[in-house]
Amino acid sequence: MIQYEFSLAGQKLTGHSGILELMDDLGRAMTIDPHMRMLGGGNPSAVPAFQSLVRERMKELFAEGDAFDRMMVNYDPPQGNPRFIQTLAGLLRRKFGWDIGPQNIAVTCGGQSAFFYLFNLLAGRFGGNRRKKILLPLAPEYIGYADQGLEPDLFKSCRPKIEWLDGDSKRVFKYHIDFNAVDEALRHGKIGAIAVSRPTNPTGNVLTDDEVSRLAAMAAAYGNPLILDNAYGQPFPGLTYVPAKPFWAPHVILTLSLSKLGLPGTRTGVVIAPEPVARAISSLTAVVGLANGTIGQQIALPWIESGSILQIGEKLLRPYYEEKGRAAAAWAHEFFDASKVDWAMHTSEGAFFHWFWLKNLRITTRELYERLKARKVLTVPGEYFFFGLDSDWPHRHECIRVNFSRDAETVRDGYHIIAEEAAKAQK
Ligand SMILES: Cc1ncc(COP(=O)(O)O)c(C=O)c1O
Repeated sequence: MIQYEFSLAGQKLTGHSGILELMDDLGRAMTIDPHMRMLGGGNPSAVPAFQSLVRERMKELFAEGDAFDRMMVNYDPPQGNPRFIQTLAGLLRRKFGWDIGPQNIAVTCGGQSAFFYLFNLLAGRFGGNRRKKILLPLAPEYIGYADQGLEPDLFKSCRPKIEWLDGDSKRVFKYHIDFNAVDEALRHGKIGAIAVSRPTNPTGNVLTDDEVSRLAAMAAAYGNPLILDNAYGQPFPGLTYVPAKPFWAPHVILTLSLSKLGLPGTRTGVVIAPEPVARAISSLTAVVGLANGTIGQQIALPWIESGSILQIGEKLLRPYYEEKGRAAAAWAHEFFDASKVDWAMHTSEGAFFHWFWLKNLRITTRELYERLKARKVLTVPGEYFFFGLDSDWPHRHECIRVNFSRDAETVRDGYHIIAEEAAKAQK
């Protein structure tokens, strides 16, 4: 029998990870376990109006001469489809005045691969025995980053400030960046890049335009790139419920994705970056995967040519998710209060998650997750989102993330069960 010994990097990447658990739960619930209430991972809804756009586009691809065959039979260059890249650069330049061209764009196999490449390019070990970290200015932050480092201990994150938005009721809060903490980290921390998701996964927080400008200015002052993860936000897919301007600057690395538009199955991510970074991402794509999937790029191409991709969020997706979020928040108030849970939630400004703060739990949220899973409700335990903090923080053991994008009955039943289990866990 062969004893399979994995390299240190191999062991690091294949150990237990929150993202593996989350995606495994999610994938099973969406394929072989239809009775599971999937309020866990970040699967978007099948939004009917968007689904019909995709179907129409697929029909066009079949009808347009050899377009379908070319899409299926040819590899694109590792940077991505040249027409897709050229057209996207043109759209972003025209609409937002960003000084970018095709040389600033690289397509990836979903945003997730882009982060693996970016984090390991910009942080880790460097010549001369130097080490650099990725600075996350606001924890909690996206679970999918946590295990991406080839090197251990790749992240340094900062606790946020908490603002109560509803006075003495203290049911609704918002995290804000603690800029003093960020400045301190930049000054002492040997940082390779700052990274932040906007809207933030897990909380649905949308950093204000002011916070983004300030962060960008700080990054520039310390000579760091700022990575803005726009999986949910502006300019597309546009799942923001408060005003938020798209942002790019020459030291900003903006990542986009077609996933939350409704095409996660196509695995299409886009990195908009300074030229050397975009070139490095293309090289990594060639080495790791030769090329990217063609299907997402071909589906979206005419929407980028016409600019209509910028309206899909506002016209089709946002009203749909906003309504779902409102209904789910009302159920949270109803069921949590009825079960006498001591709870609060982050204000929902974007994406499709609710982030619940369940105070004074007697068990970890991992244990709560297990109890909920046993009752056929998938959530994500909060602990996973607080990586890179210097010291423990009781708050990190009191939060859970819930995806409200499923059908109303699933979400309503799920929230009811969460309220019951949270109440038991607080007694
Ligand atoms: C904040 C954030 N970034 C990146 C991703 C990666 O998504 P994808 O690889 O499907 O583009 C996700 C997926 O849920 C996410 O929530």
